[in-house]
Amino acid sequence: MENKQKIKSVYKKKLKELKKHNEYYYDNDNPKISDAQYDDLKKEILNYENKYDFLGKTSSKIVGTTPSNKFKKIRHLIPMLSLSNAFEESDMRDFIKKLKNFLTFQNETIELCSEPKIDGISATLIYEKGKLVKGLSRGDGVTGEDILENLKTIKKIPRKIESKNFPDLLEIRCEVYISKKDFLPLKEKFANPRNAAGGSLRQKNSNETAKIPLKYFAYGLGKVEPKIFSKQSEFLQKISDWGFVTNPEFKLVNGIEEIENQHKKIDNLRSSLDYDIDGLVFKVNDLLLQKRLGNTSNSPRWAIAYKFSSEKAITKIKDIIIQVGRTGAITPVAKVDPVNVGGVIVSNATLHNEEEIQRKDIRIGDTIQIQRAGDVIPQVVSVDLSKRRNDSKKFLFPSKCLCGSTTKKEFSKSTKKQDAVRRCVKGYNCNYIAKEKLKHLVSKEAFNIEGLGKKVVDQFWKLKLIQEPSDIFELNYKKIENLEGWGNLSIKNLKKAISSSKNISLEKFIFSIGIRHIGQENAKILAAFFLTIEEFSKLFDSKKRGKILKNLADLNGIGETQIEAIENFFSNEKNLRITKNLVNKLSIRNFLIKNIGGKFSNKKIMFTGGFQNMSRSEAKSVAENNGGKVLGSISKKLDILVVGDSKPTKKKIDKARELNIKIISEKEWNKILNS
Ligand code: IVH
Repeated sequence: MENKQKIKSVYKKKLKELKKHNEYYYDNDNPKISDAQYDDLKKEILNYENKYDFLGKTSSKIVGTTPSNKFKKIRHLIPMLSLSNAFEESDMRDFIKKLKNFLTFQNETIELCSEPKIDGISATLIYEKGKLVKGLSRGDGVTGEDILENLKTIKKIPRKIESKNFPDLLEIRCEVYISKKDFLPLKEKFANPRNAAGGSLRQKNSNETAKIPLKYFAYGLGKVEPKIFSKQSEFLQKISDWGFVTNPEFKLVNGIEEIENQHKKIDNLRSSLDYDIDGLVFKVNDLLLQKRLGNTSNSPRWAIAYKFSSEKAITKIKDIIIQVGRTGAITPVAKVDPVNVGGVIVSNATLHNEEEIQRKDIRIGDTIQIQRAGDVIPQVVSVDLSKRRNDSKKFLFPSKCLCGSTTKKEFSKSTKKQDAVRRCVKGYNCNYIAKEKLKHLVSKEAFNIEGLGKKVVDQFWKLKLIQEPSDIFELNYKKIENLEGWGNLSIKNLKKAISSSKNISLEKFIFSIGIRHIGQENAKILAAFFLTIEEFSKLFDSKKRGKILKNLADLNGIGETQIEAIENFFSNEKNLRITKNLVNKLSIRNFLIKNIGGKFSNKKIMFTGGFQNMSRSEAKSVAENNGGKVLGSISKKLDILVVGDSKPTKKKIDKARELNIKIISEKEWNKILNS
């Protein structure tokens, strides 16, 4: 009895302590213990509750999760993009070929600046008149978090630069990391140095950040005024002279042979470096060429990350299961004996599709080699046939989805081939697809609801709290309150995140609803066409849809495949109901027409024939950067048809004449650009 009293009193004391720290943290913005210490305290309390039933579950009512909206949000001056990847020599050859095609280079070589790709956390430093005024995390690339105070704990980040050559405005991109040596004492707490760096940088209290020794390398250029740099290498040299830390292993290279040599050289050096790197970044060195090359929606055309070959390990397949994705794709997954692959414990590996299993003849019970590269799901490299048991059987790929309905392989109109992937075509009528669609909807690129990640969607789905998108906005918080791990504060944060996600841009909304073949880029093209949700909603009406879809064919980037996908999506009654319900819950912002003044401001342009000095891709990019919109077919809406010297289509020119559309030659086009 006495013992029980004692337990109760210790427990109560700990609860009180937790409440106190919640106040420090959430209400006063002044935590007195680190996040890790806070988590330990939480864990201790939960252990007590699990061990002694008589204590009840009081803590679940007060335990909050760390809010992610603890930092002020700030827009980047120029969005922080990500990089496309190369894994082997042929990918790098492709990269160079694409650069040359875009720039219509024939024999000229393109100088590349090669730098180690630091595996840390990216951050941006903004200097005005030589003074460090802002420090941001990457965030979603467009908006970052204000982590200036935490960044200031890194001694080697200059606060003030006196040099008179320093530009008035300079945005510097850098990678923050923890050295391998400094990570050793933190090994128990974090999975790897990268996580530790992220944890430290996101501390609410910069005194906590200061306790974990962060370092950084400056690697890139955001906005700069006046534009004083002409080469990436020159930029690196100058900022290093001004006191920034740049990586000493950068090198200028020309051509594939030098690229390969540098890649091998740094790969050999890798284990001796005191920081983690996962490849090399190759950047076009000339900043004018970088500008000409520009970006695709997510990554610059002028840079690529050439990854090091991945970490490999041997394990055994315990089972092969199938997973259903949001597009209905059926992906086989090997459940393997857990194995450590380069510091991460792996227990699943993707088998891609049916053909892959057949080609490699992968079977349950096989001993296999797996590899993992970066964040991608580990893959099966090979099967060790010598270890295969005599009684092993070929794996029979199920022809049905987990929901029980039959699956199909689509015929791709663009490749004119049958798809290797099997799909369930039930859409929201398949519970497995429906759940994945919800995960897509709440993801970072879509509604971006913090606190409602994949695991929470799984949890809420199981409890029937969410069945379709609109349910997110009518959650039964009373029920959630009683769930383990959900306290007042985490609920408050979730409510806030859900509520602010209701205000969404049209392009994100279109991307979120998950129409097949409508990714971020196409969603943007559609948003620019419809402009408002009212116009977009006309697609819901089967009578109006046909005509709208016909008009979409004019848009560059929207082809037959996309139009068919949109038609399929909206002709499905369930999709229609779900989308309408969702729209009713939201406040969808009109597409913001960027008034890029310029030579072709708001003009609709089309090209036919090849140009002497400019690739089609560059012409398109130039037109867009000058405020124009590039169309893919001729209609009354077209303003200008630009006719290149090399093999223009006569039919197009005739049609443009017929419609009284302005026709200009390649020469005239060049003249306008140079004027
Ligand atoms: S250049 C437009 N250079 O890799 C993006 N990135 O996957 C240009 N990174 O977010 C990036 N070292 O955080 C560049 N030397 C380096 C880098 C580097 C690490 C990170 C960076 C970026 C990510 C891209």
